[in-house]
Amino acid sequence: MYNTLLVQTNDSICTITINRPDKLNALNKTVITELSAAIDEVYINADIKSAIITGAGAKAFVAGADISEFLELSAADGEELARRGQQWVFDKIENSPKPIIAAVNGFALGGGCELALACHFIYASENAKFGQPEVNLGLIPGYGGTQRLTQLIGRNRSMELLMTGNMITAKEAMEYGMVNKVTSTEELLPKVKETLLLIQSKAPVAIGNVIECVNNFDHTQQGYDFEIKKFGECFATEDLKEGASAFLEKRKANFKGK
Ligand code: COA
Repeated sequence: MYNTLLVQTNDSICTITINRPDKLNALNKTVITELSAAIDEVYINADIKSAIITGAGAKAFVAGADISEFLELSAADGEELARRGQQWVFDKIENSPKPIIAAVNGFALGGGCELALACHFIYASENAKFGQPEVNLGLIPGYGGTQRLTQLIGRNRSMELLMTGNMITAKEAMEYGMVNKVTSTEELLPKVKETLLLIQSKAPVAIGNVIECVNNFDHTQQGYDFEIKKFGECFATEDLKEGASAFLEKRKANFKGK
């Protein structure tokens, strides 16, 4: 069905593997278009409760946007490339009501680092490397790198990574707060799946509300007001009644996502 992705669903977890290992899974136009369709499927398919994004091969998660597509672009084309990618893929991942986790199995550079950052959190294998090397090409990040990275690791570390183009290891990325867990290569997907199965056992509407509230993080009153509204909305769900009843009846909750 896809030319550049492998997509498989097991235990309601959809694993989306970017599959151009000979080009270190670089994001060309086809990958972006196909990723957009695969994420749409995660949104609409009721049999899918969560998703993993990872890369094929032993070397790379994603080594960035496909540089071979850059030389012919005008300023307007460049702006369009970034806008389309953001809307079709990166923003859609970030705003997905179902959890989407990055399993970073190697180089996550440029658009690859941004792809991981757009996911709800990141697990990485020991050999993973993160970086925003766009300045080496006369470029800056265009898929949210300057924004999501700064929000996540703070202004000064973000400035340094963006201006030097240096790569950091998985361990350093964990110290920076970019990565939640570092595993061996073999353990990466099993660990992500274990966490997703745990999340899938919780109330799905509440999980969607958590994602929405965290994405709307705002240290002013607006953020608290948004949370209050979403908290209230939970009381209109069958899942809240089921979860609270199950606790009081000392049994396991059976959530319906309603
Ligand atoms: N776009 C297009 N092709 C890419 C690519 C990218 N972002 N990253 C890697 N590739 C291709 C290489 O051109 C090479 O193709 P070839 O075999 O047809 O020549 C293949 O993937 C393997 O990469 P190679 O550079 O030979 O591997 P390496 O182990 O020597 O180096 C990297 C690995 C990641 C350090 C290096 O590939 C690199 O710096 N990539 C670009 C990273 C980048 O600048 N990303 C931001 C883009 S905006």
